[in-house]
Parts: sequence; C-alpha cells; structure tokens
Amino acid sequence: MFVNNNFPQLAMATFSASFKGNKLTSMHNTNPYPFSQNELEKTIGCSFASLLNGVDLGFAPDEGNLALRQTLSTFHYDGIKADELMTFAGAQEALFCVYNALLQAGDKVLVIAPVYEPLLKIPQNMGCKVSIVELNAEKNWSLDLNKVEEYFKAGTRLFVINYPHNPTGATLSHKELIDLVELCHQYDVWLLSDEVFRGLEHTKQDQLPTVADSYEKGISVGVISKGYAIPGIRVGWMACHNDELCKAVNNVKGYLSVCNSQLDERVASEVLKLPEKLTQRNLSIILPNKSHLSDLTSLLGYEVKINLPKVGCCVFVELEDDKVSTEIVARQIAEQTGFLIFPSDLFCTGQKGFRIGFGHQQFADFIRACE
Ligand SMILES: Cc1ncc(COP(=O)(O)O)c(C=O)c1O
Repeated sequence: MFVNNNFPQLAMATFSASFKGNKLTSMHNTNPYPFSQNELEKTIGCSFASLLNGVDLGFAPDEGNLALRQTLSTFHYDGIKADELMTFAGAQEALFCVYNALLQAGDKVLVIAPVYEPLLKIPQNMGCKVSIVELNAEKNWSLDLNKVEEYFKAGTRLFVINYPHNPTGATLSHKELIDLVELCHQYDVWLLSDEVFRGLEHTKQDQLPTVADSYEKGISVGVISKGYAIPGIRVGWMACHNDELCKAVNNVKGYLSVCNSQLDERVASEVLKLPEKLTQRNLSIILPNKSHLSDLTSLLGYEVKINLPKVGCCVFVELEDDKVSTEIVARQIAEQTGFLIFPSDLFCTGQKGFRIGFGHQQFADFIRACE
C-alpha cells in the first residue's frame, strides 16, 4: 500500500473502486451518453479517415496546435484570441496547471459547494487555505454574493466557480455573473471558471458569456468530454487574457503531458467547429430524460426533492430522510437495481443527497427501477 500525502485518495475514486467487479450501470455521470465514432461521423458529415489524412505524428506544439486554438477562438469565445488559449490532456490537467501556476501554500482560495472534488482538493493538497461557500438549495442553488464578499474582504487570491454546475445543475443569471465579475474586480480576485459543461444549456439564452471574455483576471477552462460528450478524445483548454499567467501555466504543463496527441487535436479542431450540431444531439437525449425527472419523488421509498436544472445533465437530488446516510441508500440502490449513483459526501458539502446523471440512454429504466 503506497501512501502519498501530496495526493490523498479522492473520495469519488475510492467510492467507485469499492464496486469494482460488480456489473453496475453508472447513473452518476455528468456528460451526455458519449458519441460513438459512427454517430460522430454522421453528425459532423465527415469520416475520421479524411479528418486524419496527412496528420503530423511528431510532437504537437506545447501550447496546442494553432488550428485547434483558432477553432476555439472563433467558435467558442468572443474576444479571446488563439494566442490566449492553451490546450491540455483534458480539463483536469488544465485545472491542475492553473492552480499550480497561480497559487502557493498559504494562499486563500474560495470554492462553491457542493463541488467537483478536485476543484477543492488540488489547492488544499498544495497547502492553500481553502474556504467553502455553500450554494443555497432552498433558493434553486443560488450563490449568495454577500457571503462571497465577506470572504473577499478577509483576503482571497482566487475564487473558483463552475457553471453549469456539477453536481446541482445550477447556473447563474447573466446579471449575477456581471455582479460577480464586478466584485472580483473590486477586490482584485482571480476568478477561475470551470466551464466544462458549457454547451449543455437547455435553451440558448441560458448560455453565459465565458469568464475569460468577461474579466481581465478571469480564467476559463473547457473540455470536449463533458459539454460535447466525446470523452474518448482527450482535449481540454484554458483561456485567459493574462500573458504572464499563460506562460506560468505552460511551465507547469512541461512537468505533465508536455503536449497533446496530434490525432486528438486534429479531430477536436474540426469537431469543435460545429458546437450547435453536437449540442442538438446532446439535447435530444437530455430533454426527454429531464421530463422523467419530475416523476422522481422517492428512491426505493426514501423521499427526495429536486430543483429541475436548466443546464447540464446532472442533478443533486436532496434526501428528505435525515435518519439514513446517503452512502447507505446509494449502496442499497446499487445492490437492488444495478445502477450506481453518487452520495453527497463525495462533493465536500454539508447538504444531503445524491448526484444523478440524466444524460444516459437508460435513464427511464433507472427511474422505474427505483420506484
Ligand atoms: C466540474 C468538472 N471539471 C472538470 C472535470 C474534468 O474533466 P476531464 O476529466 O474531461 O478532464 C470534470 C469531470 O468530471 C468535472 O465534472
């Protein structure tokens, strides 16, 4: 048994590993059901063979191929230029590099919770002082900017947000984002925005501008795996106007992947030119499944409550029974139905419930199995 105090085990991984060998269907995923190669070829109207024709098999440039960065700049941002973008082996690597470039032990970091665990654990493992601002389930998982300001007044180097939000499916209004950026500006706080579910808004008007486009100290992180449902192509990116930060991030990346796969970058640079087509396919799975969500009032007899999300394909289902642990209920569900959902303990929150994904083709079966 190896113990590395710099990288304590993630609770999500430990929980999932405890089911290893059991044939369970994951109903906790945050991305829509992944594209197959055939489905992707049909959706974009082009074969992989022609996409990959003549691809260079040398190392890719460490900041990412220009063609991919141009695609991102043109189709995913308003004012971010190709040289303000860098690509990574997934969003996870981008996040790790940004934290390590921006922070030192002792720095104060604020994160929203419930939270995707690495967003909190990476800075915590670096020795940063990480505080949590809990979203308010009673008010549709809203973010209280007055509470955020209290932390800013006490000194905060970095505020970390994630909209569309994993695990609640919450988002901000356009006005709330403007007010938040203004607050960060006033207190000179860096704003790291994990935007990996951008593209999964259920209506176009709920799509927010990116933080990198909105704020000079804003950093946006995106990925092809989540919002676009292609996790088998390992391409993430970051966008930021600050050149010094981009250089520091690139330096950290030199300790990790150094550069991406040329094959992945070539496919991503074409596929990401068609975000609307990808979104259309993803919503064709998500929206019918969402209509089943309102039927979910109990899980194996345990009463639950839901705020219907307007974005993404995961939802935080609140457990109304305070006598039973969410982990016990999740284990009962796994045993009795064959579906795996995640208990709220994995999201560093005091709020009780489960993360359920509704981007899976078998979602209706899951609802029936839990009746
Ligand atoms: C909020 C959030 N950010 C980042 C990631 C990392 O994405 P990837 O594994 O594709 O790099 C995930 C993955 O689940 C996520 O939920």
